[in-house]
Amino acid sequence: MTPAAPAPWLVARDLVAGYLPGISILRGVSVEAVPGQVRCVLGPNGTGKSTLLKALFGFLPPWEGEVEVGGRRVTGLLPHEMRLHGVVYLPQRPSIFPYLSVEVNLRLGAWQYRGHRGRVEELVGRAVERFPILAEKRRQPAGTLSGGQQRQLELARSLMHDPTVFLIDEPTAGIEPRVAAQIYGLIKDLAAHGKAVLLVDQNIKRALEIADYVYVMRTGTVLSEGSRETFGGDTEALVARWLYASGST
Ligand SMILES: Nc1ncnc2c1ncn2[C@@H]1O[C@H](COP(=O)(O)OP(=O)(O)OP(=O)(O)O)[C@@H](O)[C@H]1O
Ligand SMILES: [Mg+2]
Repeated sequence: MTPAAPAPWLVARDLVAGYLPGISILRGVSVEAVPGQVRCVLGPNGTGKSTLLKALFGFLPPWEGEVEVGGRRVTGLLPHEMRLHGVVYLPQRPSIFPYLSVEVNLRLGAWQYRGHRGRVEELVGRAVERFPILAEKRRQPAGTLSGGQQRQLELARSLMHDPTVFLIDEPTAGIEPRVAAQIYGLIKDLAAHGKAVLLVDQNIKRALEIADYVYVMRTGTVLSEGSRETFGGDTEALVARWLYASGST
């Protein structure tokens, strides 16, 4: 008997959202984030992948549809409230403070424990233990880190909230393959520790290597979705066909 699949932790139903009145970028998108799984959102440029994560995290209040986290309705909550519900967001552009040291960036990640010096130091200590490169560079301005190291800093900072759901946008764009592989390894590891990851990626091949489940987006809708197994053998070719076949834009 196969074990029952874990229940989704974040559920979004029929989200409609956009930036300008009357122009919807998301046109009814439903996705789930499931503990222990990496779910990838793939799709061409400008299709609304980043917009989806922004809408899920509360940067862009949905016009229609709903979002639930852990069975609670969180539609329309703001980012800091989403964080309190155990959701973190790593945006497409690294969100570090470049002129502040690595260590101060980490301390800022623990701002909710401000006033509890011991707790903050413990969290910073744990973060640098997990990401040795950050220990080595803790006194340097974060802007002097390489792209891959900045991503590690963001991951380390977001882990301080002990989140359940990670919304991660293009974590390896512009990063050399060896370091990218490391970052995918870290993401896979999050899922292995029971976290729910929703990952937006352009790198179909890499994404499919770590994805348990895939959503293919096209012009503000989910065109197709399924577990990695349902794709069969040549996943890359299949997804590329979905993405780039003409006719259904
Ligand atoms: N701040 C904004 N104001 C107005 N329109 C925006 C804004 N951000 C994105 N858009 C538009 O929303 C649409 C979807 O953009 P989005 O960034 O979600 O795409 P994406 O799938 O993440 O693309 P990419 O793969 O290039 O990152 C695009 O047409 C874009 O021009
Ligand atoms: Mg994007």
